[in-house]
Amino acid sequence: MRLSASHSPLSFPPSPVRLFFGLVQSLALVLLLSGQALASAGQGIVLVAFGTTMPEAGVSLDALDRAYRERYPDVPVIWAYSSDIVRKRLAEKGVKVPSVREALDQCVRNGLVDVRVQSFHVTAAEEFSMLERALARYVALNPKVFDHLWLGRPLLVSLEDMDEVRAAVLADLPKDRGPDDLVLLMGHGNDRGPGDLVLAHVRQAFHEGDPRVFLATVEGGNSFDALLPKLSAHKGAKVYLQPFMVVAGDHARNDLAGPEADSWASRLKEAGLRPVPRLKGLGEIPGVQEVFLRHTRETRDDLANTKKEQ
Ligand code: CO
Repeated sequence: MRLSASHSPLSFPPSPVRLFFGLVQSLALVLLLSGQALASAGQGIVLVAFGTTMPEAGVSLDALDRAYRERYPDVPVIWAYSSDIVRKRLAEKGVKVPSVREALDQCVRNGLVDVRVQSFHVTAAEEFSMLERALARYVALNPKVFDHLWLGRPLLVSLEDMDEVRAAVLADLPKDRGPDDLVLLMGHGNDRGPGDLVLAHVRQAFHEGDPRVFLATVEGGNSFDALLPKLSAHKGAKVYLQPFMVVAGDHARNDLAGPEADSWASRLKEAGLRPVPRLKGLGEIPGVQEVFLRHTRETRDDLANTKKEQ
């Protein structure tokens, strides 16, 4: 028998049998897809910022919120503020933002068992330690509620993070900045934890990347007072003032750019420089958002499964 093209299985006309197999295939596909949907139904993301009482500063957190919802459109996102003082002040104004514990309670109520918590702190210092302790305490008190409780590290924990953040911040500087214009970044800092050490490196890394970019901190060892004489040597220069914090909140608007005589802007003016405040939080910079997203994705710190490490 001669096999003609018409006998090739590929050219069979539609038959009830083929239609049946077609249906089976479609059904299998639907089951597969819904299986994936079911698998992600127990997933959740908790985003933890220090928080801010200033509505104007919310743009940075909104930008982070959008970045996460775009990247994880099917996963519920819950916010928490780690600062008790910020949450208390907001509550007095009738705005309720969950604490870390309350956000985890919400996950449990909503049946989320595979939860990724992302810290929006800059360094793994005081605030981040408190977040980590709060999560550990929660799983100790509620040992069976999560299959996984992943903790995404803060912005700067590796040299790779530093390179990416520096590149993102430098690329985001004002396009009309002239060759003699300085930039002064305001970090937070404090001496209760390793934050000051990290920020000392940040200062050096920026300065190496661009010798006209400086950094000082509101609290802790990398002080503005110590830096001022160096900046004063550039008398007459324009100096852009930017927060090196996730939001441009109270510190940026008052301590950095405020009209009071002791703000950095006033003291630079006093020293003969021309300060130009630029109130943009790190959370608004896409390259910074990417570092946080990477930390959320790549974390291996599962606080619900720490037995192996002990
Ligand atoms: Co502060």
